Amino acid sequence: MANKLNLAVFVSGRGSNLKAILNRNDLLPLVTVKGVFSDKIDCPAFEIAREFSIPTFHISFSTKTPYDVASVLIAEFKSLDIDLIVLAGFLKLIPGTVIKEYRDKIINIHPALLPSFGGKGMYGMNVHKAVFKSSAKVSGATIHFVNEIYDEGKIINQKAVDISALKSPDEIAHRVLEVEHLLLPDTIKLFANNKIKIINNRVEILN
Ligand code: GAR
Repeated sequence: MANKLNLAVFVSGRGSNLKAILNRNDLLPLVTVKGVFSDKIDCPAFEIAREFSIPTFHISFSTKTPYDVASVLIAEFKSLDIDLIVLAGFLKLIPGTVIKEYRDKIINIHPALLPSFGGKGMYGMNVHKAVFKSSAKVSGATIHFVNEIYDEGKIINQKAVDISALKSPDEIAHRVLEVEHLLLPDTIKLFANNKIKIINNRVEILN
């Protein structure tokens, strides 16, 4: 059997996507979550990590320079032998040095259908409020590679949801989150099974 994929998962808040990864039994033989990283020492997601006996790493993005943050992160990734970095509700910008070193090995989940409703400041409920205000009839979740610009890396996987009958940003958030909890573990599984390839500068999912 191929080696397991070693994951670093980044979180800033509640951690429901982290939980969705950890509760997916079909992923367990394929991946190991080696560490959960956060910019917030008291985020609820750290509690989930501890419940699953996964080491937590608090990285202070506000008191360190991007260079120092990058040095700490790269050192931890190397010592944990990380293959894939998963941003699961992580709200800070990953330093450029880390992105360069781990090009096409960092993925993010975004709670809308990119390239719409993304960019700086577009996170969490801000996204759902903008979607609701626009009167869009579909929303959904996107998994994309992380590059130097917020939400602009190439799209790996998406799932749309019909929101035409929903009456508030909260209802949209709830519906999209259900989809996120499937799409993120599904996409990690595709990575673990070597099904995600970049061909002619496009991301393709192999059968
Ligand atoms: C999720 O909806 C995720 O898509 C979003 O934050 C939420 C985190 O929830 N991420 C962004 O908005 C990034 N731009 P969780 O902590 O319960 O997984």
